[in-house]
Amino acid sequence: MDIGCGDGLLLQRLAPHVRQAVGIDPDEGMISRARTRLADAPQVSLVAGDFLAMPVPPREERYDTIVCVATLHHMELSSALRRMAEALAPGGRLLIVGLAADKSLLDMTVSGLLLLPIRVMDRLHGGMRDPGVRMAEPKESIADVRRAARDVLPGAVLRRRFYFRYVLTWDKPREERLR
Ligand SMILES: C[S@@+](CC[C@H](N)C(=O)[O-])C[C@H]1O[C@@H](n2cnc3c(N)ncnc32)[C@H](O)[C@@H]1O
Repeated sequence: MDIGCGDGLLLQRLAPHVRQAVGIDPDEGMISRARTRLADAPQVSLVAGDFLAMPVPPREERYDTIVCVATLHHMELSSALRRMAEALAPGGRLLIVGLAADKSLLDMTVSGLLLLPIRVMDRLHGGMRDPGVRMAEPKESIADVRRAARDVLPGAVLRRRFYFRYVLTWDKPREERLR
């Protein structure tokens, strides 16, 4: 499942490698663009809706992998992490690429140091000023996300990444031991 799938670019890249995938996004315009992009991928279904309002799937229909790119900060942090954990099958993997707010001196220093390399990468790879998707400013810092993840997803690993991003990875235990 791709939560906040936007116009479906990631699903298009994943489609040749999966038996079945679902993308969810509340933005009808985005879902319509994703439907056009994925017209030749019948293994991908698209849902126009809010992930947080989606009922938790029954155990046998939970997802092996959940990805969520640049979307977690659009939702209430702990509720979204809890919902993702519930929707994941035991033994499944959650992969979040998130955006965080700069709050600490460390956050600001790292972001400041990355400005120039990011400008250079943008030049080399044609960075997009307007990716054409719904955007929001992140409210939580990396430390806030790490704290929430520690609470809801024991054993999750969070790493600071380039482009002001972090990657959060969590493998759900095979036995359900969620708090
Ligand atoms: C910055 S865009 C990222 C889109 C895509 N993942 C990408 O990387 O291009 C954030 C997306 O999250 C979606 N979104 C916001 N709230 C959501 C929710 N409650 N459930 C699912 N998607 C949501 C928005 O509609 C938007 O398409």
